[in-house]
Amino acid sequence: MKNSPQEEWPEPIIRVQSLSEACVDSIPDRYIKPPTDRPSFSSSPDDDDVVSNIPIIDLHPLFSASDPAARASVLAQISDACRDWGFFQIVNHGVSPELMDKARDTWRQFFHLPVEMKQQYANSPKTYEGYGSRLGVQKGAILDWSDYYFLHYLPLQLKDHNKWPSHPPYSREVVEEYGREVVKLCGRVMKVLSVNLGLEEDRLENGFGGEEVGACLRVNFYPKCPRPELTLGLSSHSDPGGMTMLLPDSEVAGLQVRRLDTWITVKPARHAFIVNIGDQLQVLSNAIYKSVEHRVIVNSNQERVSLAFFYNPKSNIPIEPVKELVTPDRPALYPPMTFDEYRLFIRLKGPQGKSQVESLKSPR
Ligand code: OGA
Ligand code: NI
Repeated sequence: MKNSPQEEWPEPIIRVQSLSEACVDSIPDRYIKPPTDRPSFSSSPDDDDVVSNIPIIDLHPLFSASDPAARASVLAQISDACRDWGFFQIVNHGVSPELMDKARDTWRQFFHLPVEMKQQYANSPKTYEGYGSRLGVQKGAILDWSDYYFLHYLPLQLKDHNKWPSHPPYSREVVEEYGREVVKLCGRVMKVLSVNLGLEEDRLENGFGGEEVGACLRVNFYPKCPRPELTLGLSSHSDPGGMTMLLPDSEVAGLQVRRLDTWITVKPARHAFIVNIGDQLQVLSNAIYKSVEHRVIVNSNQERVSLAFFYNPKSNIPIEPVKELVTPDRPALYPPMTFDEYRLFIRLKGPQGKSQVESLKSPR
């Protein structure tokens, strides 16, 4: 796709939060999904308990060098989760629970500021940085029931505090500290993924550009919705980047992960991060690891806040399957492409399941 991102949105932006405040018992047609895409709320709470959750993995043994057997077990659990689910939760991951809560609270306060204060940071489709309410620029598209804030953390040349909210006070410091800790954690998990693929521990990170990896934060705000059965907070997609470290709302569930033909609602463990494989790791691993479709449902009585931290390749280098994973039996499934070029798709078309990474497969 060669179109470059346009300067402005195709239609006036409406904040979902203001719709939520104005809508008592209906939602605008623009947010009503076709019947096949609507969430199903058929299962009773009892049924829900039977449905499995994504794996929960305790990382503590990774940080306490003492017990090799426990460490091997963690690696095996992560390996299984990557191959089987593409999604898992981690606990005892080394990021302080207080910092996690503080980061989430800070962003909740931001979304509760008066609209004029948030409007100063209104984003455009050119870079997506700032306060936004849609993904994709197709005129007339059916939209998702959420607002968001998107910012760059790495590389340093792209990090610009002036594009981060100045309110609530200390929010920039909190985002700085949160980013630092989550980047560290992402680096550790990337090493485990490398080793689990039989590679040198720095191989995946180096494939992402080593010191020059990218990282950005997308904070999602899902306001209450009077008709949650008709819409989605975020349509089905796989994450275009490398790996995502998601801090979900501590009180309100909403994330659903596709498992064959069903959608599993993730039940977040306390102070867990939800880790998922993005499209770039699917490419680098030559599809041994797969990105997995997910979406978000909303509800009528509680808002929801989540922080999705995306750990990405350096954006202007070709990303392709690592040579060690390309064999005569398993030729490279994807041609090289830069992440800059890759992410234009979702930025123009919005969330579209896994259609992009699937369409890339080299013809054989
Ligand atoms: C995302 C995402 C899930 C959530 O931002 O890419 O999938 O629970 N978010 O908000
Ligand atoms: Ni996602």
